[in-house]
Amino acid sequence: MSRVLGLVCRECKAEVPPGMVNTCTRCFGPLEVHYDWEKVQESISREKIARGPHSIWRYEDLLPVESAEKVDLGAGFKKLHRARNLGRALGLRELYVLDDSVNPTYSFKDRVTSVAVTKALEFGAEAVGCASTGNLASAVAAHAAKAGLPAYIFIPESIELGKIVQMLSYGPRIIPVHGNYDDANRLASEVADAHPTWAFVNINIRPYYTEGSKTLAFEVAEQLDWQAPDHVVVPMASGALLCAIARGFQQLEQVGLTPENHTRISGAQPSGCAPIARAVQTRGDVVPLRTYETIVHSLAIGNPADGPYARDAILHSRGGAAIPTDEEVLEAIHLLARTEGIFTEPAGGTTVAGLQHLVENGTIEPDERVVLYATGNGLKTQESLTRTIHIPASIRPTVGAFEAMVSSPPPANTPQKTRGTAW
Ligand SMILES: Cc1ncc(COP(=O)(O)O)c(C=O)c1O
Ligand SMILES: [Zn+2]
Repeated sequence: MSRVLGLVCRECKAEVPPGMVNTCTRCFGPLEVHYDWEKVQESISREKIARGPHSIWRYEDLLPVESAEKVDLGAGFKKLHRARNLGRALGLRELYVLDDSVNPTYSFKDRVTSVAVTKALEFGAEAVGCASTGNLASAVAAHAAKAGLPAYIFIPESIELGKIVQMLSYGPRIIPVHGNYDDANRLASEVADAHPTWAFVNINIRPYYTEGSKTLAFEVAEQLDWQAPDHVVVPMASGALLCAIARGFQQLEQVGLTPENHTRISGAQPSGCAPIARAVQTRGDVVPLRTYETIVHSLAIGNPADGPYARDAILHSRGGAAIPTDEEVLEAIHLLARTEGIFTEPAGGTTVAGLQHLVENGTIEPDERVVLYATGNGLKTQESLTRTIHIPASIRPTVGAFEAMVSSPPPANTPQKTRGTAW
């Protein structure tokens, strides 16, 4: 008997058999995976995990798959850096950065996609698809290539050129859509309804897909010698990542891999598109945005599917939410790179700048053990930074010219007022 019993509605708790569905037929609530916890507990142990593969699949007992064969490019098993320099700059005693920018396609989306495409094969899907703000596209296209499945990728027209070049290299059909992410997502949902044998990773197999992000909680706890941290700071778009990390820490406690934990969970969104973070700050409803503009394209979702659940997870854990400006985001990208040697994309800059806000306003206390998630790579989003860096003028190849150059201070990298358009 499988450790996955099926799906269960997050609202009315109705049970649904496993399949390519994401909403409850009774109340239209979202579904989540229903595990047989006795089975999970019987089979999981710290020792077994330690002997497992160097990927998300070391936590297989807490993932919703049946097949031995995984669609695996090596997502996960990323380093938790002790960030002493950044910690000192921000006034934190014990800060860590989980660097998820170095996954196979350079974002955390490889974690969710490895699970989702494995699941798509289990369900006998004939193709895979997704709506993407940029990073999921490459993750899905790459894993589809590995699985030998066609991929249909719906993207808003205004994402970064670097991400488009990357996703195209894996050979999917990309469908740029006039409008923003929410328009692309709406179309992808309609296409998913019209093609029931296609697995849209963040639509009709969303309950399985989001489970992959729990591994970001597991990896942190494992690298902290099976202790959960006091506080984590997470970037938010749909809110699914934050919910999965919260669920991950809670499940570790449930199966006895960590002692009782009280991890506080805070989220960050850019000021141009912050529906979840504003709901946290006002303790009100998540009000969907019809229009939005920010350089942080990967977090630009106006109608976040997991918004209310992310807000509740933050408030329940006594965390907070931060809303940095685009200029603060760009400065924070430089700050993380200069202090810790990690080059992240604007989603990571949002998280670093968000952490800064949360320390300054006292939400995060100096003595807390804090983990920051850097979820995407800066090389994918170079155009957002080209306005902030100064490339020195070339010199003649002489030592004299070199000495003259370094005798004056280098020009600082200074974020300038930016608009949302990327290219
Ligand atoms: C780099 C990066 N970080 C964080 C997120 C947020 O993920 P979620 O939509 O699960 O909130 C995204 C979403 O696309 C992303 O690309
Ligand atoms: Zn229901």
